[in-house]
Amino acid sequence: MNSIEERYRAASARSAELGKQAERVMPGGDTRTTAFYRPYPLTLARGEGPFLWDVDGNRYIDLLGNYTSLVHGNAYPPIVEAVNKAAANGTAWPARSEAQIELATLLCERIASVERVRFCNSGTEAGMLAAHLARRLTGRKLILMARYGYHGSYEDLEVGLAGQDGERTMLADFGDATAFEALLSERGSEIAAVFLEPVLGSAGVVEPQAGFLGRVAEAAHRAGALFVLDEVITLRLDEGGAQKIYDVRPDLTMMGKIIGGGFPVGAIGGSEEVMSSFDPRNRGSIWHSGTFNGNPVSCAAGAVSVRELTSDRIATMNQQAERLADELTRAARHAELPFSVRQVGSLMNIFFLKEPPAATIVREDGRAIANFHLAALNHGLFVAPRGLIALSTVISDELLNEIIGRATEAIADVASAGD
Ligand SMILES: Cc1ncc(COP(=O)(O)O)c(C=O)c1O
Repeated sequence: MNSIEERYRAASARSAELGKQAERVMPGGDTRTTAFYRPYPLTLARGEGPFLWDVDGNRYIDLLGNYTSLVHGNAYPPIVEAVNKAAANGTAWPARSEAQIELATLLCERIASVERVRFCNSGTEAGMLAAHLARRLTGRKLILMARYGYHGSYEDLEVGLAGQDGERTMLADFGDATAFEALLSERGSEIAAVFLEPVLGSAGVVEPQAGFLGRVAEAAHRAGALFVLDEVITLRLDEGGAQKIYDVRPDLTMMGKIIGGGFPVGAIGGSEEVMSSFDPRNRGSIWHSGTFNGNPVSCAAGAVSVRELTSDRIATMNQQAERLADELTRAARHAELPFSVRQVGSLMNIFFLKEPPAATIVREDGRAIANFHLAALNHGLFVAPRGLIALSTVISDELLNEIIGRATEAIADVASAGD
């Protein structure tokens, strides 16, 4: 055990104790594989604004926002107010709510390709729904997606993370438009849809090369397949989503995270024509139900979250992220550690490698990034174990200075720990 882990353990005795209790009732004491790390994950107690507290009373600056979903930080007062009001009127109704209409309207107004929205409860469900719709419309089974792309935990889409084709899923390298075009021309008659994240998230925040998304969309259409853009993470990059930035018009858009304002949510959106497959007034429409679809509390929170994510706020977050990426690079250079960062808007992923790797979830710098993650926690910074950072609108420039100071100390600890 190195000194970083010793310090982590010393500061988190109550978390460790609760971890043992959790292991008796949940496999690995965990219920979310992405968020698991060794020696044991923290148990959190509270979040407010840009801060989180664990059960041992340690405070962390939240640089993850529940994996990019809390774009306005924790317990954002306008969201808490809307949620309290909604919850006081009942937390789940067996019919439509005004909040649902408001959130759907905001999404249709903001996202160019979205004319109609169907809600579900998570990004994973949005992926399942998009696959279901594409298979129904085309009568085909296969899905084509990016190697190391991530669209949630539905088996046919999760195989992307394994990096190998599945029974009903084919993979091509993100950025390699020619490979996508070739598969679509050879196997197009079997392919129901192409799924792509505009910016790969889980694979390390990878931006698409110019023209990549457009070429794949075109090839999908030539083959009669649907082009599905997964904007579950990327809606935070622009009021109009990443499709506005990269000038691409998908047939279906997957949404989640920020559109629930911190509550469970998912949705797909598309043209009136494509989405009319769900219209229960049509004969043979797709049966899509869910007890909590379009939950009134999630929609009330989500409407505030989306409405208050303005271009100005996005620009401020992006500038802060740029500065943070520069300062982390400077600190690592000072500590004589190999380091690289990929930053897109308010998202970034760091690597203890001279050059950022190609899109992958396989880490060559596994030990260094694990050390950094624990060292960052020791210095009061909450980042993802894989080095993903997502800023929020409630981080002041003053707090950013504090973040830079703390991250510099964490990086120095990594250098001292050696290999
Ligand atoms: C791009 C992308 N799509 C889909 C999902 C799945 O969303 P959820 O975790 O809400 O099921 C995620 C989750 O991280 C994601 O990053």
